[in-house]
Amino acid sequence: MAIYRILTESEPSLREKARPVPKITPNIHKLLDNMADTMYNAKGVGLAAPQIGVGKRVIIADIGEGLHELINPVIVSQSVEEEYEVEGCLSVPERLGDVCRAVSVVLEGQNREGEALRIEAEGYLARVFQHETDHLDGLLFLDRADEVFLRTDVEDMDGGEL
Ligand code: NI
Repeated sequence: MAIYRILTESEPSLREKARPVPKITPNIHKLLDNMADTMYNAKGVGLAAPQIGVGKRVIIADIGEGLHELINPVIVSQSVEEEYEVEGCLSVPERLGDVCRAVSVVLEGQNREGEALRIEAEGYLARVFQHETDHLDGLLFLDRADEVFLRTDVEDMDGGEL
């Protein structure tokens, strides 16, 4: 078990495009385990490998319904319908933003065994997947938010950290 330091927005590597994982090795299993430890320790609901300084296309998410692990995730389709919600990010600790996202997405990738995985998600989980796949392309919610505000200015926030 290892808990990693989560990089914050001033870190240039967060802006780089992560590389695909060509082969699932024991190191990738270790990465997935360490990412889960780090996410749960930070009380997050999602984490992308670049947030702990690993430039690989690996994400995890758990909105309280169980852990999702995805290697080389791709959003293959998304709803036309969109909605606004307040979003946070473990890599942007001071601020929150109002971000428009597709209401539902279909995600394809591989699980830790290297088997093809297809997940249909809607609502909050769909939002988390969109947020995490953005991290793999060097994007932060700040780039998409219509409005960004200080966390201290927000009294109530639903959901958790992405
Ligand atoms: Ni994030």
